[in-house]
Amino acid sequence: MYNFDKIADRLNTSSLKWMYKDVLPMWVADMDFDTMPEVKEAIKKRVDLGAFGYTNTPNYFYEAFRDFWKRNHHVDFKTEWMIFSTGVVPAISSIVRKLTKVGDRIMVMTPTYNIFFNSILNNNRDVAQTDLEYDGKEYKINWKDFEARIKNNVKMLILCNPQNPVGKIWSKGELLRIGKICRENNVIVLSDEIHCDIVTPGMEYIPFSSVSEECMNISITCLSASKCFNLAGLQGACVVIPNEKIRKLVNRGLNTDEVAEGNAFVYDAFTVALNKGDLWLKEMNQYVYNNKKYLKSFLNENLKELDYHFGDATYLAWVDVSKICDDGNMLCEYLKAKSKVYFSYGEEYGKSFKGFIRINLATSLDNVKEGLNRLLIGINKFKEEYRK
Ligand SMILES: Cc1ncc(COP(=O)(O)O)c(C=O)c1O
Repeated sequence: MYNFDKIADRLNTSSLKWMYKDVLPMWVADMDFDTMPEVKEAIKKRVDLGAFGYTNTPNYFYEAFRDFWKRNHHVDFKTEWMIFSTGVVPAISSIVRKLTKVGDRIMVMTPTYNIFFNSILNNNRDVAQTDLEYDGKEYKINWKDFEARIKNNVKMLILCNPQNPVGKIWSKGELLRIGKICRENNVIVLSDEIHCDIVTPGMEYIPFSSVSEECMNISITCLSASKCFNLAGLQGACVVIPNEKIRKLVNRGLNTDEVAEGNAFVYDAFTVALNKGDLWLKEMNQYVYNNKKYLKSFLNENLKELDYHFGDATYLAWVDVSKICDDGNMLCEYLKAKSKVYFSYGEEYGKSFKGFIRINLATSLDNVKEGLNRLLIGINKFKEEYRK
């Protein structure tokens, strides 16, 4: 049994997540759990070597991805299809530059991971955006809107599979339909699958490229061990591209952008995590699920005005706060200042979602309890102050 109650003290370590003194951070998608002891051992072994020179990407790194996805997700990714990158975001930005032109449109389904907007806009491409629709239980694609927007000069879809922030696991039917529409309109699908192994116990995500030959041929899949095993600071990803023509271009782009070489630790750490991490993941997922259940009962009991949602993936809760305040940004800042707890602004994930906040639950249950108490205290104060 691994111990997920034990979390590292990251104050004064230049941690991004823990950078606000005295504030409990429940914002950026970064875990607090102690990573696997086996991974720490692999890193220590490297440290003991005492030499940290340039490192080639070893084949065992790619084999670990191949084996893990075969074992856990029933898909046969060939090692020849894989390219290392220093992260999913560096890969996405590079791929946007290489496969699309200035002025092209790139589609996202909102609410979605905020940095997709940066990768598109910073490279002078335009965002085509379709809002997912909430039926009170689930977020769903508005197919009419999706298809209409795709037809308007869209060259690429950035799919978040599973979807951050709503935790949606896309079904096979949905993935097939996305693939069909994209194929018909010559749209490449860049599937960011970084959250894929954080799932409700018993649930499984489906790799986009695995659902049909057609999807495989238009797919670029970004995989990583970073999000699921608390290794994001090691900076690594594996980009999988079955289509040879697309792969050659992307390989050129990643190398030209100098994001295709890893540091001295990332290869061994990811390899050990993927090869030996099934049990750790299983237990981590049970722990996160218990945190979600705690949030559910806490909000049902104490904060009925908040409409929360979490899907079957990610460690995130997506909370509609509009009955308290229609400006989630302002509420987050208020809670940070007055109640010392920090959440992410909903609006970052799409402009229609200003009335939302995102809560990160990848921390100890004690922290979740403390954070939600602070949320309650802060909201009560906010109501007193603004509803006089
Ligand atoms: C959907 C998604 N993709 C990518 C990233 C970041 O990936 P990387 O650190 O490998 O650049 C995040 C981090 O929160 C994320 O949520």
